[in-house]
Amino acid sequence: MSASVRVVAPSQDRITRPLPLFDPYKIDLAVAQLGKDLFEDPRLSSNNTVSCATCHEMTGYGTQALANSPGVQGVGPRNSPTVFNASLNPMQFWDGRALTLEQQLDGPIHNPLEMDSSWPQVIDKLQQDPVLSERFNTLLNQPISEQSIKYAISYFEQQLLTPDAPFDQHLRGDHALTSDAKAGWQRFVSLGCAQCHQGINLGGNIMQTFGLTHRHSDNLSDMGLRELTGDERDTLVFRVPSLRNVAMTAPYFHDGSVNRLRDAVEIMAMSQLGKSLSEQELDELVAFLSSLTAPPPPILALLQ
Ligand code: HEC
Ligand code: HEC
Repeated sequence: MSASVRVVAPSQDRITRPLPLFDPYKIDLAVAQLGKDLFEDPRLSSNNTVSCATCHEMTGYGTQALANSPGVQGVGPRNSPTVFNASLNPMQFWDGRALTLEQQLDGPIHNPLEMDSSWPQVIDKLQQDPVLSERFNTLLNQPISEQSIKYAISYFEQQLLTPDAPFDQHLRGDHALTSDAKAGWQRFVSLGCAQCHQGINLGGNIMQTFGLTHRHSDNLSDMGLRELTGDERDTLVFRVPSLRNVAMTAPYFHDGSVNRLRDAVEIMAMSQLGKSLSEQELDELVAFLSSLTAPPPPILALLQ
């Protein structure tokens, strides 16, 4: 990779490895259920119409098949990333501005284009629900508070892992990949995709410029990290997204501007590596990326 690559948040988690296998005995199912109920509770929004699940559908691989998801006061500029496996990302959001799931939660609660609310408003509403209050007391030994709500929702989100993709089975030593997918994985490494889409989530753990070698589009309406720092060098710097289940989470990129995975791969090769790929290379890379599709998180079968 060229010397101009600026790794904004270097990560130690570079090794590609399978997700841990699901172990229901390690999970407090009642707390996970509380977290799921809150995740699906529209009272977290100012006008009781939007829940986390509106934009992060459990039946939609943790996202919504829309370029931009409408919230209470309209549509935001960015595509909803999946919440599946998000707990393994050491930073959250397209610009990495939250480091933990708990911190992340301040975003949607306050954003007028998402839930448009505030913690006092949320707590006030939920406290009027005696059954819910009792669940907090019994399960968490705490009243309903910002901290206890954040704990329960992020506990649920931490269980949303998808460990059984063919690629995970391959990494565990099973013959689970088609020959195209296997060739695609080798290309993914040899072309240099794996230098950015790295670690347990094949992405999610570093920031990089979108358009390192060729700028894909002149649209600068969302400048990525530069929106936060004002630093010109951060223009179009985004968190490298995880590629787990990517075949299921169209549309692609921070603005949801690309619908087909194959097109996204073609754009990536040119914008990040300055390469134009053959049809065969594209087929193989798409076959590999499709081998990252797992069944939905096994926890969901144990919750209501
Ligand atoms: C109106 C749609 C909408 C709602 C409602 C919403 N989100 Fe999101 N979510 C998004 C968008 C868009 C982003 C990316 C925003 C950005 O990067 O600036 C996001 C990002 C996230 C991320 C970061 C994932 C990652 O890998 O970076 C998590 C986790 C998340 N949301 C969880 C939640 C939770 C929990 C709630 C409920 C409290 C919620 N969201 C409500 C649209 C929504
Ligand atoms: C220099 C770092 C870098 C390299 C190399 C790289 N990517 Fe990316 N990739 C990114 C960034 C950053 C994004 C997010 C761009 C955006 O949305 O603004 C991204 C986005 C993607 C997406 C869209 C994912 C989604 O959920 O929206 C796919 C698919 C993808 N890359 C595949 C690849 C493939 C295949 C290769 C190799 C041909 C590759 N990438 C090489 C940094 C990189």
